[in-house]
Amino acid sequence: MSGGNKMVTVWLITVAVVLVASVGITVTEAQPEANFKCLTENATCRSLTDYTSTNSTTLKEIATLFGVKHFLDLLGANNLPSNTNNSYKVNPNQVIKVPFPCKCSNRTGTSNHVPRYKIVPGDTLDAIARVRFAGLVKYQQIQTANKIPDANNITAGATIWIPLPCSCDPVDGTSVMHYAHIVPMGSSIQSIAQQYAISQQTLLSLNDLDDPKNLLAGQLLDVPLPVCNSSIKSDSLDFPLLVPNATYFYTAHECVKCKCDSTGDNKNLQCEASNLKPINNWSVCPSLKCSGSVLLGNTTSTDSCSRRVCDYTGYTSSRNISTTLATQNTCAVAPSGSGDSGSGASRSMLNGWVLNKLLILIHFLILFVYLL
Ligand SMILES: *[C@@H]1O[C@H](CO)[C@@H](O)[C@H](O)[C@H]1NC(C)=O
Ligand SMILES: *[C@@H]1O[C@H](CO)[C@@H](O)[C@H](O)[C@H]1NC(C)=O
Ligand SMILES: *[C@@H]1O[C@H](CO)[C@@H](O)[C@H](O)[C@H]1NC(C)=O
Ligand SMILES: *[C@@H]1O[C@H](CO)[C@@H](O)[C@H](O)[C@H]1NC(C)=O
Ligand SMILES: *[C@@H]1O[C@H](CO)[C@@H](O)[C@H](O)[C@H]1NC(C)=O
Ligand SMILES: *[C@@H]1O[C@H](CO)[C@@H](O)[C@H](O)[C@H]1NC(C)=O
Ligand SMILES: *[C@@H]1O[C@H](CO)[C@@H](O)[C@H](O)[C@H]1NC(C)=O
Ligand SMILES: *[C@@H]1O[C@H](CO)[C@@H](O)[C@H](O)[C@H]1NC(C)=O
Ligand SMILES: *[C@@H]1O[C@H](CO)[C@@H](O)[C@H](O)[C@H]1NC(C)=O
Ligand SMILES: *[C@@H]1O[C@H](CO)[C@@H](O)[C@H](O)[C@H]1NC(C)=O
Repeated sequence: MSGGNKMVTVWLITVAVVLVASVGITVTEAQPEANFKCLTENATCRSLTDYTSTNSTTLKEIATLFGVKHFLDLLGANNLPSNTNNSYKVNPNQVIKVPFPCKCSNRTGTSNHVPRYKIVPGDTLDAIARVRFAGLVKYQQIQTANKIPDANNITAGATIWIPLPCSCDPVDGTSVMHYAHIVPMGSSIQSIAQQYAISQQTLLSLNDLDDPKNLLAGQLLDVPLPVCNSSIKSDSLDFPLLVPNATYFYTAHECVKCKCDSTGDNKNLQCEASNLKPINNWSVCPSLKCSGSVLLGNTTSTDSCSRRVCDYTGYTSSRNISTTLATQNTCAVAPSGSGDSGSGASRSMLNGWVLNKLLILIHFLILFVYLL
């Protein structure tokens, strides 16, 4: 009897696992190496990656590990208050978004020769990849990027760079910020698409997934984050100014603070004077205005569906920051090409799957009751 019970329990667990897998909920498995497509040869941009450590750490340590030069970049990417202390504690398994520069080459995007890591005695490439950098890369990728002939023969004291996956490609004709998202256990393409306001079809095709069920917990998913519309000129040193929703970014030697807050219908980047001391070689921030009394960020007129704003358009190396009076759309714009076409079909297919598995489960329950 108890033997039979055990058997039935094993069966039920198996059925439950099959059920869970069939609705596209992720379960942990061996992770493939992430390679994000980046077809715009030599393009550079800012990109984002998730990072999570099994040990507790601080924002400062994370900034150091990833070579984030400006602490405000790390705060802005996580929408933390700009006065957050750098000893801010990060708990084990807490996910922090890390900004880094990306470069496309040979149809693949990788971090542009950062982060740099100094090998310490006892390190192995595998431990650097899996432990220090939390599996964001595989040791083979580090080996190739650094042209290390023998992965088992690395030299303590040598400095290597860690090629994080990223991309600068527009998606569906729109500028986005690519975000290497560590797929959380129990999430699905549907939940991730919903969370970041992206179509499921876009996520699937961008990541070469032909089936949402193939998503694995812990894998790195290329999530193209929608960014706010800005008036940035293509010759500005910070072009393309990609600021995703619910983040902020200090630019023009930190003289300008831009934030993207797409709650409601306003999807425009909002920039204003930061009132900080400039970084790098600017001694003082230039005045930030459109005319005598109209300062950067000031609204001069509003309409039912638009408004005139003194907007940021870029900066140059000669301590110039340019502005313009821009007309911004403040009403809902139909998202171009982000219709959920295709998800309807897959959803009904999923329903079929769930029904199937439920029937199987019911059969096993009947068997279970019978055995009792
Ligand atoms: C990309 O950059 C490399 C090195 O700077 C250069 O040799 C190559 O011609 C560039 N390719 C394109 C398409 O611009
Ligand atoms: C951060 O907090 C620590 C202790 O709480 C303090 O000693 C340090 O001065 C603070 N740093 C900054 C930059 O505020
Ligand atoms: C470009 O990538 C292909 C494979 O995708 C590889 O065989 C080739 O060696 C790479 N070329 C360079 C210059 O890295
Ligand atoms: C976490 O702590 C353990 C024990 O101190 C150490 O071996 C391991 O390398 C640490 N992991 C990271 C990511 O720092
Ligand atoms: C390891 O590499 C160094 C050069 O980087 C070389 O001199 C040494 O012989 C190698 N050791 C082994 C065991 O291959
Ligand atoms: C974004 O801004 C540009 C320039 O200000 C404007 O031409 C374009 O129509 C805007 N797009 C949307 C969707 O508001
Ligand atoms: C932008 O982020 C806010 C806060 O997280 C969220 O409420 C809003 O729905 C997001 N908007 C879009 C378009 O994703
Ligand atoms: C200031 O620094 C930038 C790079 O950070 C450089 O391109 C520029 O030439 C410098 N300007 C002066 C006047 O030193
Ligand atoms: C113009 O912008 C400045 C700085 O952002 C702000 O203090 C001021 O209140 C604004 N004025 C108007 C009329 O909106
Ligand atoms: C930069 O500003 C100076 C005056 O401050 C102006 O003479 C110059 O034309 C500006 N340069 C550009 C590229 O806008």
